[in-house]
Amino acid sequence: MSLALDRMVHTPVLISEVIQGLDVRPGKRYVDCTLGGGGHSAAILSRCQPGGELLGIDSDPEAISIAQHNLYNYFESTVIVNDNFYNLEQICTETGFMPVDGILFDLGLSSLQLSSDERGFSFQRSGPLDMRFNPDEQLTAADIVNKMPESKLAQLIFIYGEESYANRIASNIVRHRPISDTAELAAIVSSSIGDRYSKIHPATRTFQALRIAVNRELDHLTSALEQSLKCLAPGGRLAVISYHSLEDRIVKNFMLRETRSCICPSNIPECRCHHQQQLTLINKHPITPTETEIEINPRSRSSKLRIAQRI
Ligand SMILES: C[S@@+](CC[C@H](N)C(=O)[O-])C[C@H]1O[C@@H](n2cnc3c(N)ncnc32)[C@H](O)[C@@H]1O
Repeated sequence: MSLALDRMVHTPVLISEVIQGLDVRPGKRYVDCTLGGGGHSAAILSRCQPGGELLGIDSDPEAISIAQHNLYNYFESTVIVNDNFYNLEQICTETGFMPVDGILFDLGLSSLQLSSDERGFSFQRSGPLDMRFNPDEQLTAADIVNKMPESKLAQLIFIYGEESYANRIASNIVRHRPISDTAELAAIVSSSIGDRYSKIHPATRTFQALRIAVNRELDHLTSALEQSLKCLAPGGRLAVISYHSLEDRIVKNFMLRETRSCICPSNIPECRCHHQQQLTLINKHPITPTETEIEINPRSRSSKLRIAQRI
């Protein structure tokens, strides 16, 4: 597919908060685990000069092409890798980015992916039931929608979508199989729920559930956060932007656990875990966007930024 690179724009979320949170300084090295259109990376690169470097990772080859184009001015200071961040430690080792002074995760999908009909991420557009970040992966949303047993599908929509009407939706999906198109799926989900949700589109939660499952997003996030501890230099910062409660819970629990020097259950009189504190929290509560940012960039509405420092 040919890309009109100049028209590819994704507005980065909480940009000044990220730069401040990562404490970006000249001569330091950073990893952007979710490169996307390169918006956060460009801001990091502009502030870590002279001498600073950035490693950008994305599993989507299309995002890689766009970021290469957008970060062209910084090509001497940038290493771009098309891979999944669950390989974070290996990628950092192989590219010589070990240790680093800051790691950023800006989770989920970009506006570029959402607005592409062929990627099948949007319930507001007609496209194939795909939803893969990396088109080389086997599993697509169509496989789940058309092949998964009803009870398992209901469970998936309930857990990954936090959707109360999961049973009803799964039953309707199974009745309408085969389903090949996002608009068709969105209509089936909407008809299962009616107008019970006033603020969000009725298909929002089901589409979120399918995307999480297709890309194994929660497993990969959990693994990459663990690996980030091995990649960060002492004093290095970890910044994570999440967009829904499942992601945020993983980030929050990870950061809280790593700020403790003992993780034994409270009923054990003596510590047996030998856990060591790895992080201190930079912000106790998540940073959220201002009203002005939400007005300018509605996609930022649900974002939460958490920052911690390696000790
Ligand atoms: C919200 S966008 C990032 C936007 C970026 N911060 C910017 O300013 O342009 C998230 C990106 O992360 C990528 N992504 C999601 N999960 C990933 C994973 N496990 N490994 C690598 N990239 C991933 C997606 O393909 C998408 O391009």
